[in-house]
Amino acid sequence: MMPLAPLQVAVLLLGALFSSSAAAEYGDVVLNLKSEREGVRPVIFPHWFHRIRYRCKVCHSELGFRMRAGANVVTMADIIDGRFCGMCHNGQVAWSADRCDLCHSGKRGLQAGIIGGAETKGPGRW
Ligand code: HEC
Ligand code: HEC
Ligand code: HEC
Repeated sequence: MMPLAPLQVAVLLLGALFSSSAAAEYGDVVLNLKSEREGVRPVIFPHWFHRIRYRCKVCHSELGFRMRAGANVVTMADIIDGRFCGMCHNGQVAWSADRCDLCHSGKRGLQAGIIGGAETKGPGRW
């Protein structure tokens, strides 16, 4: 067998790195550490919708989102200050933080985590 070219090795390594979290390749993430307790609906974050537009590191390194569903404590004060979702949802890059229902679109009782498997549904469908 031919020795693997460096690019093939890199692709294999990446596959190994992400195959353990294949569910996160698609799907939507529910964020609900505080929302329901504070009287608003859970947040549905369409991961795939964002992943096809931005590199992972924009969110997972520059914005500091830890790569584990339910691991990030996000407040509206952060968002309005331009952190987390607020880096883009500021009325310039994307619609702003006053569009509550577009983010707080989950049905009550949803636990933090990945839902949807291979689907991404956008606001209001879970
Ligand atoms: C761009 C997305 C986005 C928009 C728009 C948005 N939120 Fe949030 N909000 C979040 C996220 C993410 C959290 C953290 C979710 C969690 O872990 O419960 C959150 C948390 C909250 C919380 C609980 C934490 C805290 O800071 O008190 C309240 C209350 C809240 N939002 C109210 C609102 C209201 C009211 C609006 C509209 C004026 C709004 N949100 C608009 C994303 C958004
Ligand atoms: C626009 C921002 C954004 C981009 C771009 C993004 N992610 Fe995420 N990612 C998030 C958020 C937000 C969460 C949920 C964090 C939470 O629930 O606290 C998340 C969660 C995850 C998780 C955890 C899933 C689980 O099961 O716990 C993984 C793995 C992940 N992302 C990988 C990636 C990879 C790989 C890329 C690039 C191909 C990427 N993300 C791009 C924002 C993003
Ligand atoms: C790196 C920039 C970026 C970050 C960070 C980001 N978004 Fe977005 N988001 C966008 C853009 C751009 C759009 C498309 C806006 C449009 O269509 O006008 C979007 C659209 C959305 C949509 C609508 C998807 C659809 O199907 O139309 C939701 C819901 C959403 N974002 C929630 C969030 C939440 C919740 C967070 C934080 C957990 C977040 N976003 C963080 C850039 C971002």
